[in-house]
Amino acid sequence: MFMPLNPTAAPAGRGQSQAIDLVRKIDRIDGHWQPRVVAEMNDYQFKVVKVKGDFPWHVHADTDETFVVLEGELKIATRAGGGEGGERVIVLRAGQMAVVPRGVEHQPSADAEVKMLLIEPQGVVNTGDGAPGARTVANDQWI
Ligand code: NI
Repeated sequence: MFMPLNPTAAPAGRGQSQAIDLVRKIDRIDGHWQPRVVAEMNDYQFKVVKVKGDFPWHVHADTDETFVVLEGELKIATRAGGGEGGERVIVLRAGQMAVVPRGVEHQPSADAEVKMLLIEPQGVVNTGDGAPGARTVANDQWI
């Protein structure tokens, strides 16, 4: 498993009191599924990321998670009650957002590249609860 050991320190201003160009930040990120923090509000973080392909199914037991799509079309499959019977897919296009409730298993995927903003509390592991996997990345990496 690859996990960067030197997260980029938060700037003193925590990204506040300034205009932030989200897409320009995303264009500086190397690779897909590599979220980077751009600002904090209280104990919440705003993270930008570009994604392509399927992310692993995962769940966050203790927090809701917000997806705001800036470019492209994101699909979020969810399993509300556990098991494949309760599976449904949320489709988000540029300018649309969705909140996945805590405890709901979900799988983001993108046929073509998607640029988006994530809003979630500090410390949330991108691959959810349980053992880290190949897609797990270190938290608190700023851009
Ligand atoms: Ni998630």
